[in-house]
Parts: sequence; C-alpha cells; structure tokens
Amino acid sequence: MVQPFEQEWAIQRRLDDVFAKVGEKYGDLRGRVEVKLRPDVSFDEVGGLSAAKATLRGFADGLMNPDLYHRWGITPPRGVLLYGPPGTGKSMLARALATAAGAIFYHLKLMNLTSKFGANTGELLQEILNIATTEGTAVLFMDSADGLSLEHLLPPPQAREASARLVAALCEKFDALDESARVLVIASTSRTDAIDPSLVAPGRLDHLIEIALPDTPAQQEILALVQRRAEREAGRPLFGPIDERKLLPLVGGMSGADLAEIARRALEAKVHLAAAGKEAPPVTTDDLLLAVEDHKRVRGVVEKIRYGQYL
Ligand SMILES: Nc1ncnc2c1ncn2[C@@H]1O[C@H](COP(=O)(O)OP(=O)(O)OP(=O)(O)O)[C@@H](O)[C@H]1O
Ligand SMILES: [Mg+2]
Repeated sequence: MVQPFEQEWAIQRRLDDVFAKVGEKYGDLRGRVEVKLRPDVSFDEVGGLSAAKATLRGFADGLMNPDLYHRWGITPPRGVLLYGPPGTGKSMLARALATAAGAIFYHLKLMNLTSKFGANTGELLQEILNIATTEGTAVLFMDSADGLSLEHLLPPPQAREASARLVAALCEKFDALDESARVLVIASTSRTDAIDPSLVAPGRLDHLIEIALPDTPAQQEILALVQRRAEREAGRPLFGPIDERKLLPLVGGMSGADLAEIARRALEAKVHLAAAGKEAPPVTTDDLLLAVEDHKRVRGVVEKIRYGQYL
C-alpha cells in the first residue's frame, strides 16, 4: 500500500533510528544497506524481459493484496531468486517490484555486508528482517546473494563451514516468518554455482526467474529507453535519428548495462565538445558506432585486468 505522506516521515524516522542502533552494534552500514521508502523505478523502464515482468507484477499484486492468493488456498510467495548475467536488469526489476507494490525497499548488498561482517552477517540479516516485517509492506533485496558463500573472504574449507552457518541462520529466519508478514525477499545473482541449495528450498527463495541477455528486439527497446531517460533528465532532445540496421549488428550479445554505457559514452563525447566551446549537435548513428568501439576496447582491457594476461 502506498504510504500516506504523514505516515511516511514517521516511518522514515523510525527506520533511521533502528538502523542507527543496528549500526552502533555492528558498525557503519553505509554502502551496505540502503533503505528507500518510495522506490521510483517502474516496470515500464525495464526493456524486454516481458515474462519476468509479468511474474513479478503478479508478486507485487500478492504483496498488496494477499487475499488474491488466499482465495486459491495458498500463501503469497515469500522469496524469489533472479539469476542471469551481469547488467541484465535484475536490480532494476527488484526496485520496480517494490515500486509497484508501494513497498519499502531494503537494498542489502551482500558482497559488501559479508566482506565486513563475515559469518556474523546472518545475525545482522535476521535483525533487518525483523525490522522489515514490522514497518509495513517490504521488499528485501539480497543483491549478489552469492556473497553468502564467503568465497571472497576465506579459503574454500573455512568458507564452506562459515557460509553453511550463515545460510542456516538466514533459513531459520525465513522459515519462522509470520504468514501475515507483508515481506517479499528477492535475491539476485550472476553466479548460481555459488548459491547454497538450501536457500532455494520450498518456502524460501522458491521462485526462480532467469534474467537472460536481451535479444535484438529487447535491445532496441532498451536503447530507446536509455535515450528517453537521458532526454528526460536533460529536458531536451539529445539524439538524432538512429539507424538501427547499422548499430544492432555490432551490439549482439551485449547486456542492457552495456547499451546504457554506450549511450553514456556518446553523450560524454558531446560534453567534452561543449566544454571545449565547440558545437555539439545531437548524437548520431556514427557517434554511437564510435562509442560501441570504445566500449568494446575498454571491455577488452577489463578482461585482461581480470585474467592478468593477454588472451
Ligand atoms: N532490461 C533493461 N532495461 C533497461 N535498462 C537496463 C536493462 N538492463 C540493464 N539496464 C541498464 O543497465 C543498468 C544496470 O542494470 P542492473 O543494475 O539492473 O543490472 P543487474 O542485472 O542488477 O546487474 P548485476 O548482476 O551486475 O548486479 C541499469 O541501470 C540500466 O541503465
Ligand atoms: Mg544488480
């Protein structure tokens, strides 16, 4: 339910207070946990992924109106896992679900949380779940849930043991969630191999939704959305007519994040022109083609850095 304004600041103050206390106990949570009372990404801003969007819209309806499920003799979903390659819109979808449900959005960055709190992250997550269940309709986003494997912190045998404990604490909390709690836990990962199978058992993150790389029509949609978003921000047209027959064959296999980055690079080139006092006309197809080249070059370097060698 969308919170009326006067309730909103009361909730905000309560959340600030509780998180300040949690922070005192565990240490600074900034950059690790973010809470948004009124998330503002909508499903209409997510390109492609129509099946995933339809399913998640249904979950938003279930959060707002659990009776929809009860009428069919079942309880609303409690947990969802979005899995797929990086940059495909998983985080956007989680936010959009919270927006559609008028829910408070708790963004838990599990890589950052586990890096600081290690195996104690379980206790902290339990505490946050407690807060979420008492403060009104909530979407709890466990971003990069593969962070729970603790592989980035400890050698494999220790990581396995500590992670099992951490996941068990979380599952315990999951199983104890009150049926009337208006909370949906939504986890995301680009590494399904690092997700503990007990997390995806029935009653936990038992709705598995693949978020794949966009095909060409989805890429077209995403490019249009990315352009419109920049133009809305700037309050003026920024792109000329784009010849997609030239552009699309060069971006096959790229994610939404890649496409957003390409558009950003093309716009950045305009910023540089304008800053040098030169004329900066709207972005053309050729500008985007240059940006694609540039992006591919940078991606190549990133790969070399990651693998420490020239392939
Ligand atoms: N399907 C999409 N529609 C529109 N924009 C998209 C889409 N996918 C990605 N983007 C763009 O890429 C950015 C990153 O997307 P997002 O953070 O949702 O990806 P992700 O799947 O969560 O990635 P990661 O696995 O790295 O966390 C978005 O802010 C948006 O600009
Ligand atoms: Mg993400």
